[in-house]
Order: sequence, then structure tokens, then C-alpha cells
Amino acid sequence: MQYEFITVNPDAQPGGIAHIQLNRPKELNALNLELMSELKSALQGLDKNEAVKVIVLSGNEKAFAAGADIKQMAGKSAIDMYEVDQFSTWDAIKKIKKPIIAAVSGFALGGGCELAMLCDMIVASETAKFGQPEIKIGVMPGAGGTQRLTRAVGKALAMEMVLTGKFIDAAEAYRVGLINRVVPVELFLEEAFRLAAGVAEMSPVAIKLAKESVLKAFDSSLEEGLHFERKNFYLLFASEDQKEGMQAFVEKRPPVFKGK
Ligand code: HXC
Repeated sequence: MQYEFITVNPDAQPGGIAHIQLNRPKELNALNLELMSELKSALQGLDKNEAVKVIVLSGNEKAFAAGADIKQMAGKSAIDMYEVDQFSTWDAIKKIKKPIIAAVSGFALGGGCELAMLCDMIVASETAKFGQPEIKIGVMPGAGGTQRLTRAVGKALAMEMVLTGKFIDAAEAYRVGLINRVVPVELFLEEAFRLAAGVAEMSPVAIKLAKESVLKAFDSSLEEGLHFERKNFYLLFASEDQKEGMQAFVEKRPPVFKGK
């Protein structure tokens, strides 16, 4: 399928690693409604594609994404925003079962920071800048920034970033636990693919249930989360991959997972 604002390569790296690149470089990958809708449909397609195990989402060296498209939003009324219902796209992306790794270089601001945080892991280049600057244009984060940033970095820093629009660089983002790795700019995509490859070796069915279980920690009590984890743990004993994985351990050989 041909897209206007993104490029999609289902077979970017051996072993089932797909790549989606945000592709509005002149606008620093500002997330207009059309781009988000393309992203949703590309992700849903890759989620259904059995050959794909992990998805890497990147922008370019200068920008992952500088936020929602301010020019597209500027003249809208509250009712326009309500009718457009842009967050249904974000809700659909949240339901993607396969792991998504954000490869961030340059600006990840506003909706761009929120999109990176909607992914499951973040690899950043040394030039990456994360921020929720919506307050500077008279609004506030709307795609999860007040919630996911706070859960990731704690109240003190999240409050400061959301109320002042202050950016943090990659080193600080790493130190406070927002991201998984910081690498030199020329390596950010390669490193994201490397991280993806380490995940893609595992049982696809176990990966999906494990992702779902980790995410459950964000919206459940400990008791409910533990219950959810246990059910998914038991469920994996219905998979061929569990038999294969444990048998391979006993036989001292690498497992061959099928995703069943
Ligand atoms: C629309 C944008 C944009 C954005 C950049 N551009 N960010 N267009 N929406 N969010 C456009 C600029 O208008 C310009 O196009 C071109 O990209 C290059 O940007 P410059 O500003 O010239 O680049 P630079 O001087 O390097 O500054 C980079 C920047 C700045 C610091 C990232 O562009 C900036 O502050 N952008 C806005 C960041 C922001 O406020 N994000 C939050 C948006 S609200 P032209 O054609 O004019 O030269 C949001 C809400 C999320 O995200 C909730 C819903 C999802």
C-alpha cells in the first residue's frame, strides 16, 4: 500500500523486523490527521502480518516528530475537535499487539513525545530532545503526555515539563528512565534494529502476551495485575512454543519458535 506521509517496509531487517518511517521532513514530521491515520492502518497491517515480529518506528535525524500539526489545529473549535475524534486513532495504536520500538533522533515534542511514549521502548540518538511544550501555545498535552510522562519520570519532572514546556535531552531522558538507550546519532536506527532483533528471536506469542501484561501494570491494582499476569503465564502453556522452548533448554540447543 502506498502512503503519502509515512514509508513502510515490512521486511526491513531479517528475522521479522518491520520499519515505519514518518515522512514529512519539511514540517519536522508534524503529526497531521492524515499521517496518524496512515500510521494506524500501517501498524494494523503489520500486526496482522505473520512474518512481522517487531516494529521499529522512526522519524529522521532532525526530528522524530515536533508534535501535532499546529497549523491544522489552530482554527478549530472545541466541537470540531470533538467531532474529528483524533484520539480514536491513538486508541487503535494502543491496541497493537506486537512490540513497537521508537527510534528517536532530534525533536520528540508534544504529540511526538506522546507517540514515542505510546511505543513500548525508546532508543534515542544523542541529539534527541523530549518535551511537552503545548503549554507555550495555550493548551496542554492531549494524547497521554500528562499520564505516560508522569508514570515514566515521576511527578516532579513531569510537572515541570508540562507546566513550563522545558525540553530534556537524551542523557537526562535516559537518567530518569524515559528511554532505553542513547547512542551516537549515526547509530540510532541501527541500535533500534539491534534491540528489535533481540526481541524478535523470542516466541511471538509469548512476546505479545508479555507486552500486554507489562502494559497492564499501568492501569490496574497490583492484585489485578498479578492475576492478569498469571492467566497469561498459564495461557502460554497451551502454546507449542512453550514446549519447544523448555525442551530446547533441556536438550541444550537453541529453540525454534513458531508463534503457536
Ligand atoms: C506544524 C510545524 C510544527 C508543528 C514545526 N513545524 N513544528 N508545523 N506543527 N508542531 C514546521 C514549522 O512551521 C516550519 O515550517 C518547519 O516545520 C520547520 O520548523 P522551524 O520552527 O522553522 O524549525 P526550528 O527553528 O528548528 O524549530 C524547531 C522547533 C519548532 C523548536 C521544533 O518548530 C517548534 O517549536 N515546533 C512546535 C513544537 C510544539 O509546540 N509542539 C506541540 C504541538 S501541540 P514553515 O513552513 O513554517 O517554515 C501537540 C498536541 C498533542 O502536539 C496532542 C494531540 C496529538
